[in-house]
Amino acid sequence: MSASHVIPKVPAYPDNKTAYDLMTILPYSAEVREGHLWIGGLDMVELAHEAGTAVYVMDESHIREQLRSYRTWFQNCHAESDIVYAGKAFCSVAMFKAVAEEGCCLDISSGGELAFARAAGFPMERIYAHGNNKTELELCECLEAGVGRVVIDSFEEIERLSRLAVELGHTQQVLIRVTPGIEADTHDFIKTGAEDSKFGFGLNQGLAMEAVKRVLAAEGLDFAGVHMHIGSQIFALKSFAAAIEVMVAFIQQIKEETGAEVRLLDTGGGLGVAYGVADEPSTIEEYAEVVTGGIRAQCERRGLRVPRIAAEPGRSIVANAGVTLYTVGTIKEIPDIRTYVSVDGGMSDNIRTSLYGAHYEPLIANKADKPRSVTVTVAGKHCESGDIVVSDGPLQEAEIGDILCVCATGAYCQSMSSNYNKQVRPGVIWVNDGRWRWVIRRETYADLLSCEV
Ligand code: LLP
Repeated sequence: MSASHVIPKVPAYPDNKTAYDLMTILPYSAEVREGHLWIGGLDMVELAHEAGTAVYVMDESHIREQLRSYRTWFQNCHAESDIVYAGKAFCSVAMFKAVAEEGCCLDISSGGELAFARAAGFPMERIYAHGNNKTELELCECLEAGVGRVVIDSFEEIERLSRLAVELGHTQQVLIRVTPGIEADTHDFIKTGAEDSKFGFGLNQGLAMEAVKRVLAAEGLDFAGVHMHIGSQIFALKSFAAAIEVMVAFIQQIKEETGAEVRLLDTGGGLGVAYGVADEPSTIEEYAEVVTGGIRAQCERRGLRVPRIAAEPGRSIVANAGVTLYTVGTIKEIPDIRTYVSVDGGMSDNIRTSLYGAHYEPLIANKADKPRSVTVTVAGKHCESGDIVVSDGPLQEAEIGDILCVCATGAYCQSMSSNYNKQVRPGVIWVNDGRWRWVIRRETYADLLSCEV
């Protein structure tokens, strides 16, 4: 890249430790006005006071922009492309409505997510149903709802789905999930493409080919194509390119051994995002080019028709669209050791720090123009020492009552939240153009008690 292409991230701000420096990981609409953090044309400090904390805030226009960029870049590169939002990253009725309105498809991984899709009026033919152990009930729900594609993950599922489809007099389009044997460069817990995985059919021992043959022979199933998902939070696009090469070779093998044509190649999700200012993930454009260009080149080389292409992004749609706002409740300074700034949430609304050692950037929304000059650990309020939201991160000098914002919490925080210690889970507010609305309200004690018998 030539120097003239390097756009300074923070024009002319003297200190790179303020909120200005965090703009690359905050929603597109984020700004600093008179010392406060604003998102979606709203003052986050005022919003926190009005709506209460802890609360997740998401920028609706950022989410829609991501969905549109994905669709534009993929469809520009290959007209027959589907963007399949991975609902597990952030699941809500409002979100699924936005996904439908933006012309995208939806990946569901449980009957519960299907129920949300139905509540959103999501077009069922645009749904891809996933899971390594879908129950019979979930398979029936998929068939009855008329979901577009079921991604088959095991031999048992071929038999089960075929039997149920025949019983219901239905022909179900299916994909076979293949583990391409590629090690993605990411956290062990979110790697899925290696041979030793609970997901999908491996290639080396002929299991994937056997699955294809059984699907082709099964009544009630229409073999549409193959699926891969090599992992999540991936920075190295070469992992995708390598997996695509393996998948297209497999497509050729399918054609040669069975005569069947693969109409759809689903390349899964996994594009990484920036949680910290030093993170430099690939852009959607670069990713779309590697995926579609790779498939096209490999197909040409092997004389195959280029299939319909699907990508299943989750994190990269919502992660940077969201922040969590907390109120600082206690500050404990242990001289020469550490300062703990404790907030009114924690591992119940963000398990990712303790589960994966994830890195998050904090700032004080009411001191957004001040330097983040001290190092603190942001702790939650749960009865567990591991209840840490940010360990040893830079922060402005904190005081009781400050509104503490943790950046880039839009993906896999609300969806992995819990009621540990019977904490009520925060609601989710969507902001847009100076207006805000609850898309998920904050829980109440009555909600917590509602399932007790
Ligand atoms: N497709 C399939 C079949 C998946 O299993 C996943 C994520 C995706 C697409 C979306 O991947 P994404 O674009 O979001 O990376 N809880 C973990 C992430 C687990 C991802 C599971 N599967 C975390 O908080 O990092």
